[in-house]
Amino acid sequence: VGIGMDLGTSGLKAIAITADGQTVAEASATYPLLTPRPGWTEQNPSDWVEAAHQVLGELAQKLQQGNWEPVAIGLSGQMHGATFLDKQDQVVRPAPLWNDQRTAQACAEIEAAIPRRDLIQRTGNPAVTGFQLPKLVWLRQAEPEHFAQTAHVLLPKDYLAYVLTGQMATEPSDASGIGALNLGLQDWDTEIIQALGLNPALFPPVIPSHGVVGSLKAEWAQALGLPQGLPVVAGAGDNAGAAIGLGLSSARPGRGSVSLGTSGVIFVPTQKPTPDPEGRIHLFCHADGGYHFLGVTLAAAGSLQWYRDKLAPGVSFEELMEEAQSVPPGSDGVVFMPYLAGERSPYLDPDLRGAWLGLSLAHGRGHLTRALLEGVAFSLRDVLEVMQPLVRIDRLLAIGGGARSDFWLSIVGSALALPLARTPIEEGPARGAAILGLVGAGLYTSVDEAISATAPQDSEIGATATNSQPLLERYRRGLQAVQGFKG
Ligand code: XUL
Repeated sequence: VGIGMDLGTSGLKAIAITADGQTVAEASATYPLLTPRPGWTEQNPSDWVEAAHQVLGELAQKLQQGNWEPVAIGLSGQMHGATFLDKQDQVVRPAPLWNDQRTAQACAEIEAAIPRRDLIQRTGNPAVTGFQLPKLVWLRQAEPEHFAQTAHVLLPKDYLAYVLTGQMATEPSDASGIGALNLGLQDWDTEIIQALGLNPALFPPVIPSHGVVGSLKAEWAQALGLPQGLPVVAGAGDNAGAAIGLGLSSARPGRGSVSLGTSGVIFVPTQKPTPDPEGRIHLFCHADGGYHFLGVTLAAAGSLQWYRDKLAPGVSFEELMEEAQSVPPGSDGVVFMPYLAGERSPYLDPDLRGAWLGLSLAHGRGHLTRALLEGVAFSLRDVLEVMQPLVRIDRLLAIGGGARSDFWLSIVGSALALPLARTPIEEGPARGAAILGLVGAGLYTSVDEAISATAPQDSEIGATATNSQPLLERYRRGLQAVQGFKG
């Protein structure tokens, strides 16, 4: 079996899968998210290591009980974070994460050194507050004593690979979320790094996503009851990892995914690194040698969760959904703007805010709920419209907590005007990490071959054929209203 470990934002999850993709064991542990100041999010890398110890130990025990022999550990994880290490490879300070907002000034500094258009053409993205490169620029300005100590900077899952093996490396899918990887080369853009006055040696070597970083240290193998010399495979950023697990390969274009999790994500693989010239959606490397577009709308199921918790506490999601179903499409004129956390794609505006517009005395809670579900769907449509001229999209696999609702999926399907499909896969990025582990261990000759062998059947969900154009236009008018409103 291949072990996959996903270092998430709320916790760490490990699974073991057979060569044909059957899950045989799972284990997980959580750790805290630190918010030392408004807009800052951090984690202690030592918490990740502790969780990895616990989770791998538990998983190893289950594998022994089932007589399963692990052949590799593949990794995946939250993207963009920065683990700063000194010359002795000790952690310098807590790691700022992907959703940290402290780097606006650093992003301006980066775009002053490298023209925005140039940065997008080379790296696939403009300077984005959450990315790792601005965190390094921030550290130099805000904590010069920590910057002076810093000899290495690693992404979260790459730090874990270092702890497990003693070797430092990264791979293209996660490294392309740093902001300094040349997409065409799938290697560091030393001109960008040097234009910022940074030392390219801060960054680890880039190896393929299925490449072996090193072997599991003897002390870990002994303590956990895992085989000596078990290869640890570089793996993927969590979005690319999840896609590998779902069977989305850049060799077979046209198929992507839409996730209704806390945030909403549209993921579409592509073969060529051709970014949106304005950088409104992300372009990253995939973990199979190709590339992928990624659009992130920040408050998807997160909007619904906020709404239930704050405005309808104690009411079940089912009850809210039922009320919403009795309201016609278009919510009798109410429109919701889901920008409760600002917006990433396609507006890249942390100050954008949410709203319900068009309320009257005749409206009730069902209207508010339906408008919210529609608003999230249209915010995804805005992402899709930027993507569609750049890549073929025939159908999307619907995943994430919100995708459990047929009702919401029918709204999303008609807003996107695309067929959606369901997948039996629920393990998320850890599954893709395990698949990459199987390739690294030599059970498959390529990532694409492993995807073909492990991808499950999905089932199409008929999209409802309502004409959503008038609703989309109304949503756009609502967007103009909130863009013009800075409270
Ligand atoms: C992607 C992104 C998130 C994190 C979450 O750009 O910021 O999906 O990877 O873990």
